[in-house]
Amino acid sequence: IVVGLDLGTGGVRAIAVDLQGQIIAQTTRSYPLLTPQLGWTEQNSADWVEASLDALSDVTQQLDGYTAIALGLSGQMHGMVALDAEGKAIRPAILWNDQRTGKAVALIEATIPRQELIQRTGNPAITGFQLPKLLWLRTEEPQAYTRLWRILLPKDYLGYVLTGSLVTEPSDASGVGCLNLANRQWDTDILHTLDINPAFFPSVIESTAIAGRLKAEIATRVGLLSGLPVVAGGGDNAAAAIGLGISSSNLNQGSLSIGTSGVIFAPCDRPIPDPEGRVHLFCHVDGGYHFLGVTLAAGGSVRWYRDTFAPHISYTELMDIAERSLPGARGVLFLPHLSGERSPHLDPDTRGAFVNLSLAHTQADITRAVLEGVAFSLREVLEVISAIAPVERLLATGGGARSNIWLRILADVLQTKLIAPKAEEGAAYGAAILAMVGVGAYPNLEAAFKILPQDSNIVQSQPNPLYEAGFERYKLLYDTLKPVRQ
Ligand code: XUL
Repeated sequence: IVVGLDLGTGGVRAIAVDLQGQIIAQTTRSYPLLTPQLGWTEQNSADWVEASLDALSDVTQQLDGYTAIALGLSGQMHGMVALDAEGKAIRPAILWNDQRTGKAVALIEATIPRQELIQRTGNPAITGFQLPKLLWLRTEEPQAYTRLWRILLPKDYLGYVLTGSLVTEPSDASGVGCLNLANRQWDTDILHTLDINPAFFPSVIESTAIAGRLKAEIATRVGLLSGLPVVAGGGDNAAAAIGLGISSSNLNQGSLSIGTSGVIFAPCDRPIPDPEGRVHLFCHVDGGYHFLGVTLAAGGSVRWYRDTFAPHISYTELMDIAERSLPGARGVLFLPHLSGERSPHLDPDTRGAFVNLSLAHTQADITRAVLEGVAFSLREVLEVISAIAPVERLLATGGGARSNIWLRILADVLQTKLIAPKAEEGAAYGAAILAMVGVGAYPNLEAAFKILPQDSNIVQSQPNPLYEAGFERYKLLYDTLKPVRQ
């Protein structure tokens, strides 16, 4: 068997998977999210380590008779762990959803032409990425900055604690903001322009390469073999894609995940970014690339709507109520920008709206408008991606994909066939697959994909003029409502 680990924002998940793809054991451990100031999100990297070691011990205790041959890592992207020369964290880790770096983003934009940054790295300067966090540290915590020896991404820090190796891999590294997509190495021109020492960054190895060997003292504590190969792995989105069999050798197939946020993942084989940088372009773990577009409030919109307007109605009932309206929600539109928006607007200050309400509208129409508004937002994302990397079908995952009506709406609005797998195991499972390839249990990812569960529900998409008309009206809302923001 191999062990896969996903260092998430809510907690860490560890799973043990046999070489036929069966999950033999799994566990989770949570840790606190710190919000020391409005818009700041941090975690103690020591909490990650404790929780991960506990999770690994728990998993190994469930494994009678099996021996793990490798460990693969994945985790939340974009975070910054700042280390001093003794390898100790200088301050709490700053996370992917932290909003403190506005000034640093402005500095990057003023120093490097936007088009050039997008062409080199796949993305414009983005608040949550690691690079602006480093610039923030330089100006806001100069004492810490003078002690800085290395900065690491969350899962790579865990890898460092487990093995002593300082490495990263392209899928996570491309979310830092200064990885050159074409050669998959740090862009030293960008770093020199920003007066940053390239030695702060770990070396970039392949995602299926062995990052290092498990230290003896840790092996003893968690019940794994000393010297166990630890495979570099991938950022959580790329690893989850591998868990679904999505790679750049099959460009027809992407994924749509409806959790709190909605995420579209589409593989591509060349690093051609959207010229305006409206969706992310990152390295995939297989030598290719992938687009990533995010609607921040997807399931989050439904949760907010239910908690605010229908707190005594279950989600299942709410979906039945939405079914009583018609496609197009009889004219009601919902803009899901409840926490600003990532793709395609990259605008933290945009806000949500219900539009076109009348006395004739019912709870069914308004509920349906919420589901449709999220689908329209994802269609805006998909249109940007499809202009460069069209996909034929999307594997639909996450809590929202368990609603039949929402899946139907999404398929028809996105005009894309949706496939809802019966089993979805997320990033930890993908990390386990990467580990299998890393230690040669399978010669490559394609060969390993044969062990993935095949069972799924297929939702064909049907064109519907009511959605087309609704989408045309929806697209006007973002600009039209700008002047009424507060
Ligand atoms: C991707 C992103 C998130 C984090 C969450 O760009 O910000 O998906 O990886 O873990």
